[in-house]
Amino acid sequence: MSNMHEIKPGIYWVGAEDWDRRLFDSLIPLPEGTSYNAYLVVGSEKTALLDTVDPPKREVLIRHLDRLEEKGIEGIDYIVSHHTEQDHSGAIPDVLERYPGAKVVASPKAGKMLVEHLRIPESVITTVDDGDTISLGDRTLEFIMAPWVHWPETMFTYIPEDRMLFTCDFLGSHLATGDLYDADPRAHYLGAKRYYAEIMMPFAHVIPGYLERIRKMDVDIIAPSHGLIHRDPDMILSAYEEWTSDKVANMVLIPYVSMHGSTRRLVEHLAEALMERDIPFKVHDLTTIDLGEYAMDLVDAATVILGTPTVLGGPHPLAVYAAYLTGALRPKTRYLGLIGSYGWGGRMPEAITDLLKGLKAEMLEPVIVKGHPTQDDLARIERLADEIAGRHRSLE
Ligand code: FEO
Repeated sequence: MSNMHEIKPGIYWVGAEDWDRRLFDSLIPLPEGTSYNAYLVVGSEKTALLDTVDPPKREVLIRHLDRLEEKGIEGIDYIVSHHTEQDHSGAIPDVLERYPGAKVVASPKAGKMLVEHLRIPESVITTVDDGDTISLGDRTLEFIMAPWVHWPETMFTYIPEDRMLFTCDFLGSHLATGDLYDADPRAHYLGAKRYYAEIMMPFAHVIPGYLERIRKMDVDIIAPSHGLIHRDPDMILSAYEEWTSDKVANMVLIPYVSMHGSTRRLVEHLAEALMERDIPFKVHDLTTIDLGEYAMDLVDAATVILGTPTVLGGPHPLAVYAAYLTGALRPKTRYLGLIGSYGWGGRMPEAITDLLKGLKAEMLEPVIVKGHPTQDDLARIERLADEIAGRHRSLE
């Protein structure tokens, strides 16, 4: 992205790209970096800034605003904060310092959170509710409360005169591509899917309501606060409709870790058995896993079979991590399984089952073996593959 973009006459992208960032929330890999999209909306009477940027990029935002001043656009009357997480609200204090007369507009919950997280004085905050509007003269800001995509205080802004919808994190992607729009639609789709998997999937149950509401609004452009702007809203709305539907893919995910080869032998045998039964699968080695790719696969896969040895009486810590994450992301996985080995004893299966108990999935019979797998153990893996094949047949 260049330093400043005009999306429609008087509506500017004034955000910041973060090409070098490789980790979000100290957890989520960002192979393509990310962007913090802030937008300046200039009306005939008032001007509004929609969201800001992550604090380390505050100077980029201020520079963009300075450049607009050079073009004759003076002052900011409103700073709309869609979401309190600091990658969007963190530079509000800097903008307030630069434009001391500006009012911060937020949902009632966000109003409180902005005071708690950023110590913004309550006196500069104006709260709005669903359907409330603020006139900028020839443009209107219409607010839509959108809790749980992905915090409880989130809201969207719609500008009916331009048919532009600003959705903050919702419908975003972690991409810093040097372009505002989707120059490469496939890369855009995959970036949006990865983002959905990592950030939005735990809230899949509330998303269809928002999709329906947006469908009824006849939106021309959707502008999220990360990644690319959607000039074809149908692409992203259809993708979200599919990801949040009940439909699962004929796919088995096998995240695993092995210490001395016993669990790996089980994984290899399961992979061969699935291949013989024409069931697609994907193996993720937990020692080198890209969490984003794993999360993306979880969006559709019908079955997850976790492989782990027993260490100090419980699962391998990497398997604990994977199981915890699988449970926390709340995918629509229908079938779960556990394979692994132990040396002398332990409570590995109980610990993993406990981590996954929040998922509404059927637990298949675990295959837990003592030491290196015997022929009998491998026959149990074959039976597990039969169970999976039977269930996957019913998917179609
Ligand atoms: Fe992009 Fe939830 O912040």
